[in-house]
Amino acid sequence: MKIIVVEDYQEMSKKAAEILIKKVHENPSAVLGLATGSTPVGLYNELIEDRQKNGTSYKDIRTVNLDEYIGLPKEDKNSYFTFMCEHLFKPLEIPNDHTHIPKGNTTDHLEECDRYEKIIESLGQVDLQILGIGSNGHIGFNEPGSSFTGNTHIIDLKESTRQANARFFESIDDVPKQAITMGVGTIMKSREILLLASGKAKAEAIRGTIHGEITEELPASILQTHPNVTIIVDKEAYSLCE
Ligand code: GLP
Repeated sequence: MKIIVVEDYQEMSKKAAEILIKKVHENPSAVLGLATGSTPVGLYNELIEDRQKNGTSYKDIRTVNLDEYIGLPKEDKNSYFTFMCEHLFKPLEIPNDHTHIPKGNTTDHLEECDRYEKIIESLGQVDLQILGIGSNGHIGFNEPGSSFTGNTHIIDLKESTRQANARFFESIDDVPKQAITMGVGTIMKSREILLLASGKAKAEAIRGTIHGEITEELPASILQTHPNVTIIVDKEAYSLCE
């Protein structure tokens, strides 16, 4: 694991953008694994700014997202589909058919999991997977207890995760109880992984990820066994590692 400790959220976002932009320059048709949540928003803004200034092209990039809430139509303002369109796909003008996100409102969620896993397989290896981390150590929506070898599946969200994500919804009752997520096994097949973490709320999870026992109780701890992982953390998120 390569650990890069930075001052704050802004520096984390800039460093992550440097890595991602370099990847896109080296391979304009790279497969990017993308994440949602507050953590990658700064990175996405940096990519948009760079594109405006330097004209980096994303027209041949292919993307796969980690997860989607079950029960939200894709047009819902809280769906990860809407999040990605607003924060990244539209501003970077990535062609619609190059972007992939699980569908959270089909009639058969199991079939959707299979379909999504096959899409990822058909793209070959994910060249660079971006990850945030939940304060309980979840990656994607792989909550504690998720199998290290799992592929795309349905997950019951922990109450703490629903509480943490409630800030985006009118009330906690509106936060979906389930999601479709790429499995830890799927994530681990990526060629390279870039995990971002900022703020005190992530410090415990980051300590476990870097120094803790490798256990399904802390899903991100499996990253210790991946051959090409970079973790960019700000001082607060790293504070329990010193
Ligand atoms: C959600 C997402 C994760 C994300 C996590 C942390 O649960 N499914 O992919 O990493 O939240 O979110 P945030 O970056 O907002 O702290």
